[in-house]
Amino acid sequence: MASSKSKGRVSLDERFYLSADEFFPANAGLGLTYDDVSLATRYSEVLPRMTRLDSSLSDSLALSLPIVSSDMDTVTEHRMAIAMALNGGLGLLHYNMPEADQVSEVRRVKNHIHGMIGDPAVVSADDTIGQVLARIERDGLAFSTFPVTSSDGTLLGLLPGSTVKERHGQRKVVAVMIPRDKVFTVAEKDLGKDPIATADRKFSEHVGQNKLLVVDAKNKLRGLFTLSDIERISEESRAHVRPTRDADFRLRVGVAISVPRTADGEIDRARLLAHVSALVDEGADALAISTAHGHTKGVGDALRMLRKAHKDITLIAGNVTSGEGVEFLAAAGADTVKIGQGPGSICTTRIVAGVGIPQLTALYVASRAAAKKGVRILADGGITKSGDIVKALTLADAVILGGLLAGSREAPGKLMEINGKTYKEYRGMGSHEAMRKGSAARYGHSASGKFSKVAAEGIEALKEVSGTVDQVLGTLAGGVQSGLGYLGAANLAEHRKRARYIRVTPAGQREAAPHDVIEIKAGS
Ligand code: XMP
Repeated sequence: MASSKSKGRVSLDERFYLSADEFFPANAGLGLTYDDVSLATRYSEVLPRMTRLDSSLSDSLALSLPIVSSDMDTVTEHRMAIAMALNGGLGLLHYNMPEADQVSEVRRVKNHIHGMIGDPAVVSADDTIGQVLARIERDGLAFSTFPVTSSDGTLLGLLPGSTVKERHGQRKVVAVMIPRDKVFTVAEKDLGKDPIATADRKFSEHVGQNKLLVVDAKNKLRGLFTLSDIERISEESRAHVRPTRDADFRLRVGVAISVPRTADGEIDRARLLAHVSALVDEGADALAISTAHGHTKGVGDALRMLRKAHKDITLIAGNVTSGEGVEFLAAAGADTVKIGQGPGSICTTRIVAGVGIPQLTALYVASRAAAKKGVRILADGGITKSGDIVKALTLADAVILGGLLAGSREAPGKLMEINGKTYKEYRGMGSHEAMRKGSAARYGHSASGKFSKVAAEGIEALKEVSGTVDQVLGTLAGGVQSGLGYLGAANLAEHRKRARYIRVTPAGQREAAPHDVIEIKAGS
């Protein structure tokens, strides 16, 4: 504590701007969250673009971007998980779906070959060019070159866009297509560990080709690369984004697990373990037991079962906001503990149940318990801007985002237009609708219960559509890098050491946001 230091040696900065171990104990008994504090800037030789944001969720699961997408049914399915991993983060697939569907969601992420269109639009040899033109019109396709396949998927040729013209409308595809032996292809087995590099090399070797078809050993069409996609991706990879991949170069993915119960309320061990084995067989990299209250016998028992059955998998569990909760989950086998009860943008737990701790105080308490037990923590919920992530990462190993990602193109859900603006649905997993779809157990209710009698702990809402995950994460990562630059921290370990906190008054909070101007263009 500052007061215990010899007075002569304590600088002015040290008296006002306190380290975590001085600041939080000095504010014990007070629940502080992101907007309640600000970080002091420090002497810096670090430019934001030089900073590294590498972190990890276990000894075997490294991230180059410490951001995880929330296991919510309006946030993470395979498209979000793919986009998160491609950006160096991780997606946690939600569990409001049949078990078999969750297994196939994992498969879709693990089998994703970045840049390869796995299910390209094809035409059949007997189609007429007129029929192809009608289909382009009907489906609003922006291209006119198609692989030609038989009904069992065998590659027969390629229909070049140059032949898809009204004047050839009566001709059959078979009469104008490039025959199979002249089509530019690569065998699936030759794609190697880095399919993008392989495709890039092939395009360089074959001047003038701009579609590369992938075939299996039986000449069945497996996918298609386009030159423009490969050029865009190669450009992006020079921008230092390092995707989260496993040892076989497949994207990594996490999966939220719902703990099934038998009719007499016991954990249905056989069903739980069978489902988890199916997920692990498909290559799931992390399992998350996500409940509103993780410091419970049920979560502890389920964790112990999973740890015993799968010694090496990364286990995430939560949510808790106490040191005892962290220690309990660590002892039961968790590698990473989720911290957050009621901070989420769609949460009403604090209002309905009167419980929960504001995020920064909870993160401080949890981080000290986690350090004692050698586990990591995730700051889950309540993050509305990159500055919150900068603050969270002074205490947590990574953050979980729901609302900030729910408006992106890769989030599940239909777009809706209201007064000229486009929105997507975003709802709490404790909302009536989400619980009806399966998440009731997360809040300790029976899945077959009458939800009209159960107090919802989340709301149903809309998020304005916010572009792609690449764009959202690019902006957030840029903000976090700025934060590290201001603290003179080249990486997250230094960031944690160099963080100095000060409390902010309501007037200070007003000062922190744009004020006394008429905003004509919102910052991001
Ligand atoms: P943000 O603020 O990122 O929060 O939108 C996402 C996190 O909120 C949690 N969550 C809920 N909490 N009732 C709650 O009290 C709910 O219905 C609910 N649904 C999600 C969850 O931890 C998520 O990651």
